[in-house]
Amino acid sequence: FSPGDLTGSRILITAGPTHEDLDPVRYLGNRSTGKMGIALAEAAAARGAEVELILGPTELSTSVPGVTTTNVRSALEMHAAAMARWSDCTAGILSAAVADYRPAEVAKEKIKKSDGALQLRLVRNPDIAAELGASKRPDQLLVGFALETENGVENARGKLERKQLDFIVLNSPRTPGAGFGHDTNQIQLVDRNMVTDFELKSKRAVAEDILDRLVAVKQTR
Ligand code: C5P
Repeated sequence: FSPGDLTGSRILITAGPTHEDLDPVRYLGNRSTGKMGIALAEAAAARGAEVELILGPTELSTSVPGVTTTNVRSALEMHAAAMARWSDCTAGILSAAVADYRPAEVAKEKIKKSDGALQLRLVRNPDIAAELGASKRPDQLLVGFALETENGVENARGKLERKQLDFIVLNSPRTPGAGFGHDTNQIQLVDRNMVTDFELKSKRAVAEDILDRLVAVKQTR
């Protein structure tokens, strides 16, 4: 990569988990920390991009020049923030672990326990990646993430088509030291024609690999 190779780019990055409220004190969430997305934001800014980071609820944050963070909580909030910024961006990298479902209603008061079982009704959340993909202009590139426990490449290619992504970062869930909460990650980059394997490395170094590919794809346009 070369310093400044993202100058003039405006990159939307989603990162972290979402929390889907059940009542005033409880939520459904997941183990994402946002580390990979924050590493991407910092690396992209260091290479000259303006970054719009949309960050789900996490302890982590970043304050480097070139990164504007919007903190959100739920998938619906992340969706609204992403949709509002997409048309001003030249690329999107969607690393957030967005909840597929949210409680059908949020109880106004704390849900009381009773002796019997409790049934929760969940409804689908919007697919942010698919909606950004559906409104993608020819000058915009869109990158998604996937974590698959089986048939990784095949499933990733299905997502690529459905969500109209340019390529997918496939996380390996079984590699020790990779994934949620770790400082390292091991990925494959999957597009329509090619699968590229990478070593286990720091999330910052993984971010540089992803951005190298973004720059390479852009140059072919
Ligand atoms: O379909 P799946 O959740 O495996 O797709 C993962 C990719 O789609 C990730 O890039 C994730 O950020 C994005 N996604 C999204 N909105 C959702 C679900 C997934 O943007 N509701």
